[in-house]
Amino acid sequence: MTIPPEIKQSGAETAIVLGSGLGPFTESVSCGFSLEYSAIEGLPASSVPGHAGRFVLAQLGEMPLLIAQGRVHLYEGWSARDVVRHIQFMHGAGIRRVILTNAAGTLNPAFEPGSWMSISDHINLTGESPLRGGPHFFDMSEVYSKRLRTLFAHAALESGAPLHEGVYAAMPGPQFETPAEIRMLSRLGADAVGMSTVHEAIQARALGMEVAGFSCLTNWAAGLSPSPLSHEEVTVAGRQAAGRMVDLLHRVLPEI
Ligand code: HPA
Repeated sequence: MTIPPEIKQSGAETAIVLGSGLGPFTESVSCGFSLEYSAIEGLPASSVPGHAGRFVLAQLGEMPLLIAQGRVHLYEGWSARDVVRHIQFMHGAGIRRVILTNAAGTLNPAFEPGSWMSISDHINLTGESPLRGGPHFFDMSEVYSKRLRTLFAHAALESGAPLHEGVYAAMPGPQFETPAEIRMLSRLGADAVGMSTVHEAIQARALGMEVAGFSCLTNWAAGLSPSPLSHEEVTVAGRQAAGRMVDLLHRVLPEI
């Protein structure tokens, strides 16, 4: 993959991947050069409404930040290898630390929709891995950096905004889960459920990057509220919660 000089020379070592509805994040930072995924050979572009697909170079205070606005998913028909191409691109561009964000349903009665969850660990139920074919037997005992989790937890305490910590379960989609599947996930120890992130985290770690992950809890998971789930609800809730993550990043990134 050819890395444009604008990105290579920006000096950015930190990147953030924005999930559903979190696009407005880019409005709260000062943005410069941008590049559509479709303009980069080998990068797949999303087909889902509300999911952009572009890299944006931003400045957060003193710090250059590479934003990946949008991602592709297995449920669009892509393979686990395809959905991590932007991570490989970032690594080639000099990124050493990646913050993955997503929209997720909450299973934990104490984690209200509208709040954020710092991912402490994940359960990959997609049946896929971007590492199929190698490297084999990669250690996964600390995918989500303890150091970054601690920095964010302290920043959240200072800001007064709740930041939960818990386990993210990845399902393949494209449909939302059934109530029986949600009961199963609860028993397995999941606090949140979504359809992304885990493959990117696996790939980033395998490339030696430091990873943090945050779920914007947009809705009660299936069966936990009387109303049916909708993509619209997820996108609107994500948009409303984006500002709180911007605030956290402004507090944490200077210390990174
Ligand atoms: N399930 C799966 N993915 C999701 C959900 C959910 O409830 N909410 C947002 N993404």
